Amino acid sequence: AAEAKAAVASVADIEGLRAAMEGFPHCDLKRGARNFVFADGNPDAKVMVIGEAPGPEEDKQGKPFVGRAGMMLDKMFGAIGMSRGGPDPAASIYLTNILPWRPPQDRDPTKEELDMMRPFLERHVELAAPEVLILMGNHACMALMGRKGITRLRGEWVETLGKPALPMFHPHYLLRTPSAKREAWADLLMLKARLEK
Ligand code: URA
Repeated sequence: AAEAKAAVASVADIEGLRAAMEGFPHCDLKRGARNFVFADGNPDAKVMVIGEAPGPEEDKQGKPFVGRAGMMLDKMFGAIGMSRGGPDPAASIYLTNILPWRPPQDRDPTKEELDMMRPFLERHVELAAPEVLILMGNHACMALMGRKGITRLRGEWVETLGKPALPMFHPHYLLRTPSAKREAWADLLMLKARLEK
C-alpha cells in the first residue's frame, strides 16, 4: 500500500485521482485487463456504491456495472427513485469498485490486491464525500470492513471510512438467488429512509 499512498498524496480532485490510478504501475491486474474502470454516475451524489471488480462487459466498455449485474443494480436503485444518470445529488448514485481492473478469469480479488489498492479507494471516498456508502457484496465488505459474511452483515448500518455504510447483497447474487430480493428491497428502503431523515 506504500506505493499507492505515495501516488494519492498529491491528488487534489477526482480527475487527478483517476489519472494517478490509471497510471499506477504496481498492480499486476493491470497487465491482464483491457480497460481501466474507474467510476460512473454523479460524483456529487449522496450515495456512493462500492462494488467488487470489473467483469467482462465492464472490462470491454471501461465503465463499472454495465453488464447483467449492472442492469440489476439500475433496477434496484430505480425502484427507490435513484439513478446513475441524474444531476440531483439526492436522486443519483455514484458507482465505483474496490479494484479498477478485471481479475483474470473473474477470480476473486486477493488480499494483496485489496491492500495495495485501498489508499485509492479511501481517497476516492474522501474526494467524492458522499453522505453514505453502499458496500455491494462480500468483497466490498472485506475491503472496507475486513469482514465477510454478507448474509449477516446486511440490513444494518455500520461505520467505515467515517461514513455510515450499508452492506447489501451484490446484484450478481440476486440474479442467481431471486428469493434474496426481499432482503435487498428491505435494505433499499432503509437507505431511502436514511436519506429522507
Ligand atoms: N460487479 C461489480 O462488482 N462491479 C462491476 O463493475 C461489475 C460487476
